[in-house]
Parts: sequence; structure tokens; C-alpha cells
Amino acid sequence: MSETFNLYLFKSEKQLTPFLQKEKKEGKKIGFVPTMGALHRGHISLIDKAKTECDIVVCSIFVNPTQFNNAKDLEKYPRPIEHDMEMLLAAGCTVLYLPSSNEIYPEGKPLLKEYDLGYFDKVLEAAFRPGHFQGVANVVFRLLKKVESDILYLGRKDFQQIQVIRKMIEIEKIPILIESCEIVREASGLAMSSRNVRLSEDAWHNASVISQTLFFLVEKRNEFNSIKTLRTEGIKRLKAIPDSILEYLEVCDEETLRPIEIFIEGKPSVILTAIWVDGVRLIDNVLIS
Ligand code: PAF
Repeated sequence: MSETFNLYLFKSEKQLTPFLQKEKKEGKKIGFVPTMGALHRGHISLIDKAKTECDIVVCSIFVNPTQFNNAKDLEKYPRPIEHDMEMLLAAGCTVLYLPSSNEIYPEGKPLLKEYDLGYFDKVLEAAFRPGHFQGVANVVFRLLKKVESDILYLGRKDFQQIQVIRKMIEIEKIPILIESCEIVREASGLAMSSRNVRLSEDAWHNASVISQTLFFLVEKRNEFNSIKTLRTEGIKRLKAIPDSILEYLEVCDEETLRPIEIFIEGKPSVILTAIWVDGVRLIDNVLIS
């Protein structure tokens, strides 16, 4: 027999807070999955993880305007709310928090706090999306203040975002645990992303070369005589994807995101990339531990 679930929908903090406070008073553990909607199996894997560790799972859907440095990207961001709600219900998520822009940015034109995110705000994603991480740090701070969860679940596809959120949490001294969760992939290896729905059938197929390239580089890393030649090979393969523009392919220290010149035993590293395929910006990464 299949289980049936209820999904509480709260559009304001006024409704959300009393509900969560009651649960917390009863000693319930709260898990939080912040999203911008257009949910896919990657998001649902975070809900599933949260369900195994928490009593109450809150998912937020808010397409945060302050993290888009490109107005077209914001406009084109998919917003299939009915479908999202069906997915959350089927997944057994407890609460959907669906705030308005006014609820998150009551000051009207968002007044962003300037976080000192150091190196994380200068390289890779930050270099190509100026202001993006300030928007992310600000919105996640505002969401965390409202949800006050015990655990925050984040997907590892947005690798640099996790570092940025860790830094913001450290600066704001928020008592919360972060769980960084595995990337969920299509059978082709393509990392699941809300943006994938914008790919044409051909582009969707071509985009699988991104993860194939990353996996190839990890598997063959010891056959290259340097990280420089490994990068060159990776760049060559990614640039060969039809209708693509490569932004970066970097091999970095997993903790600092500084580029590395050699792999060191016991020091985890990560290969990260961002590439436009068919006018859609895709990111992916693989860990080397
Ligand atoms: O990863 C996302 O979907 C967003 O950046 C987040 C963390 C929900 C903040 O808007």
C-alpha cells in the first residue's frame, strides 16, 4: 500500500513560524531544502535525505531576483509551481514555504548586505556572474532566519555555492549543520538542473559530453604528465560540443577552490566547469578524493 502525505503550504512567515515553533517545542528536528523551484530528482533526493534525518522537512521555492546577473535568465527561469507541488507531495515533504518577493525583500528594492566571501567571490562562478553570490548569501540568510532549521540540505552540483553559504553562516554565526548531497544525474550522465528543460533534444544529448569529459579526466588523471595537459584535453573536448561556449574548466583544491598544479595524495580536489550549450548555461563538477 502506498503512503499518503499532506503538504502544508505557507506563503508567509506569519503562517510558517507558529507551525514550526509548535513542532520545535515538541522536540522535532527540522530539515530545510531551499530551492528556486522547477524541481527535479536532484531536489527530491535532498528531500529524501532530509526525511531520513529530520521529523519535519521544509522546502522553499523562491526565484531569487538578486542572484541573477542576467535579466533574460531570470525571465526565462522555469516556474512550474503546480508540478512542483505534486512532486513535493509525492516525496512526503512536510512544508512548502512559498514567499512573495515582498516577504523576502520588504524594503522594496533589495538592500543587500555586502558579505566578505573572500576568494570564493572572485573566481569561477563569481568571475562570470558578478554579484551572484552576494544575492545567494543574502537570500539564504533571510530564508534561514525564517525557517530556523537544524540542518540545511544543499546539492553538490552548486559546489562553490556551498562554500559561499558556509562562509555566510560562519559570518552570521548561525547554529546549523550543512549537508552537502550527491549530484543526481540523468542516465546519460548529464547533471540534473532546472535549466535542462530549456535544452533542445539535440543539445540535451550533446550536453552529456560535459560529465563524460569530467569522468574521463578523473579516470585518466594519472596518464597526463601535468594538470596543465589534463586541462588542455578537457577544454578541447568541451569546446567540441556543438553550439557551445566554454566559460571555465578548472582543477582546484576542494576546500579553498584555489587552482592546483599537482594532485596530492590525501588532499581532495575538484574539477569544475561552466559551459553554455544551445544558449543554456550549465555547470558540473567531479570530486577527486
Ligand atoms: O541553488 C539554488 O536553487 C539557489 O541558489 C538557492 C540556494 C535556493 C538560493 O536562492
